[in-house]
Amino acid sequence: MIRHLLSAADLDAAAATRILDTAAEMASLAGREVKKLPTLRGRTVVNLFYEDSTRTRTSFEVAAKRLSADVINFSAKGSSVSKGESLKDTALTLQAMGADATVIRHGASGAPYRVAQWIDGSVINAGDGTHEHPTQALLDAYTMRARLGRLDGLTVVIVGDVLHSRVARSNVTLLHTLGAKVTLVAPPTLLPVGVGAWPARVGHDLDVALPDADVVMMLRVQRERLTPGGGGAGPARDSFFPSDREYARRYGLDAARLARMPSHAIVMHPGPMNRGVEITAEVADSPRSTIVEQVASGVSVRMAVLYLMLGGAA
Ligand code: CP
Repeated sequence: MIRHLLSAADLDAAAATRILDTAAEMASLAGREVKKLPTLRGRTVVNLFYEDSTRTRTSFEVAAKRLSADVINFSAKGSSVSKGESLKDTALTLQAMGADATVIRHGASGAPYRVAQWIDGSVINAGDGTHEHPTQALLDAYTMRARLGRLDGLTVVIVGDVLHSRVARSNVTLLHTLGAKVTLVAPPTLLPVGVGAWPARVGHDLDVALPDADVVMMLRVQRERLTPGGGGAGPARDSFFPSDREYARRYGLDAARLARMPSHAIVMHPGPMNRGVEITAEVADSPRSTIVEQVASGVSVRMAVLYLMLGGAA
């Protein structure tokens, strides 16, 4: 097994499938009265979060605890980062406390790569800027496989703010590795330069893409990155699209569009959602939505990643 998980590109098809298969075994624990395994007893996992998170941070914590690891939760807010302590000094400080694995989320693309150069233990990228979020792609693939029975040959339509989406980048890479066909649908202003070189089709009309989709994955409009100096391309939101209402009209998933999808097709969203913008509440809460399932998959997949990286790899 790999030492660090920094990008979905770190995984070939065999390694990714091994994680998904191990996650399926981990998922069977969730139904038991005692949900813990002793596998990582005596090992320490650090959650090093410089950006806000609900799902990723808590699911890594639950995953590590279910494997009996000790967990240190570090949030930049309220830490010595406010006194000017650098990322390197923070990482070295936490390593000195015995971290075997560091799970890092950071607003700067590439930060996990720097941390991996500085410390001895494993580093897992939990989302870096607009770059990658590999465990999100793994949990999405796990959810698709659980619902639809396969990944090879699936048509996955990823819709919305691709420009700022680390989830889209990691999903395109991993789904391509696992044999799925990806179509990106977005306004031209929310597509990155060079997207033509990605292993994905690109379009601008959601209604054209829906009838062929096995999976429709809606992306969050990243409001915090659509402001001057907000970590995105710089211009204000109205440079990307005129209004939330106009965005929802062209790129939002509502009940009428859901009805145009094949009856077996599922709806995904990594969360957090902007209900009423990229997805209506009716669709988000429908039986064809896997949004809550994705969160549960996140615990199993992160258990599998920690298990294989720290303890269980042959
Ligand atoms: N999907 C995701 O990364 O959610 P959080 O920001 O809540 O971790």
